[in-house]
Amino acid sequence: MNSKRKRIIADFTYNPVTAQAHANIALVKYWGKRSVDLNLPAVGSISLTLDALKTTTTLQFDDALENDILQLDHRNIVGEPLSRLSRFLDVAAETNERPSAKIVSANNFPTGAGLASSASGFAALAVAVNEAMNLNLSKEELSSLARKGSGSAARSIYGGFAEMKCGTAPDDDREDYAVHLYNESYWDLRLLIAVTSTDKKEIGSTEGMVRTAKTSPFYKNWVESQDTDLKEMRSALNAKDFQKIGELTEHSCFKMHGLAMSGRPPLLYWNGATTEMIHTIWNLRSKGTAAYVTMDAGPQVKVLCQPGNSELVKQAMYSVKGVKKIIEAKPGPGATIVSDDQFKVKNS
Ligand code: DP6
Repeated sequence: MNSKRKRIIADFTYNPVTAQAHANIALVKYWGKRSVDLNLPAVGSISLTLDALKTTTTLQFDDALENDILQLDHRNIVGEPLSRLSRFLDVAAETNERPSAKIVSANNFPTGAGLASSASGFAALAVAVNEAMNLNLSKEELSSLARKGSGSAARSIYGGFAEMKCGTAPDDDREDYAVHLYNESYWDLRLLIAVTSTDKKEIGSTEGMVRTAKTSPFYKNWVESQDTDLKEMRSALNAKDFQKIGELTEHSCFKMHGLAMSGRPPLLYWNGATTEMIHTIWNLRSKGTAAYVTMDAGPQVKVLCQPGNSELVKQAMYSVKGVKKIIEAKPGPGATIVSDDQFKVKNS
């Protein structure tokens, strides 16, 4: 046993540790990796953390367990999702010879349907791991750890607005972490999420990104044009220029989806209601209501608007056939440890 491993094992806490994190919506999208193995992004991104989409995760190391166990939304999970978490714990512990863990996690929103469950999931897990392994990580180190689980999770460490930085070295992750831009009280905005399907997506983000990078003729331009979008978004946020933020948000979204559609075979994450919703919002906007759409790797449509317009926008959104529900989100807080009383590990 080397000294590093001894130090890490000696620091394990065997009490259950519970953390919470909120999903985030990318205003400037992350799409593409410069290393799949290290999960290094090919582009930076800017996001808003959302109060309404929350993951609560309890992690408990237990020498008596033979293998890691994952319960997600009250169901036992095996296979690749469990292996992904196990690999994440190995990376955090810097060894795969660590005590096994029980992870009990719950989302208050549909999992794996383009509502950023991997962002809040890995951000919550990173915070729990930091506590349970006594790693004493700074926010930026925590963000980097969360990134190893899922790129978008790096941004959910922070409340309000965050920017994911993107390094240049192909195999070095020292520059790949998110930084805080503004906290959740900086600006009261609304993100209205139209759930148009609760089915799990067929092609996850990771696979979608790899396919796009390999086959889209536009990929190089996507990467090269990102810095301009980031710069413009930073300055629009600084000026609280809602129209500019909305325009940039739509631009980044459609650029990402156009890119995905130009892959071979093409990737289309939308359904009929997604398209109908886009037209509904654009129609509303043409009549003077400032509202802007964005979509991720799924068919849900997220509409950015200001608080005074949210009822009107919601009404229009409900008129679209196929909308199952609308979730109203505000800027939300960063990831944090919460009291164990809120979510006990069930040893059943
Ligand atoms: C479309 O963070 O899910 O939501 O790093 O492979 O886990 P991995 O990808 P993930 O990708 C998110 C893509 C996106 C845009 C975004 O959130 O920036």
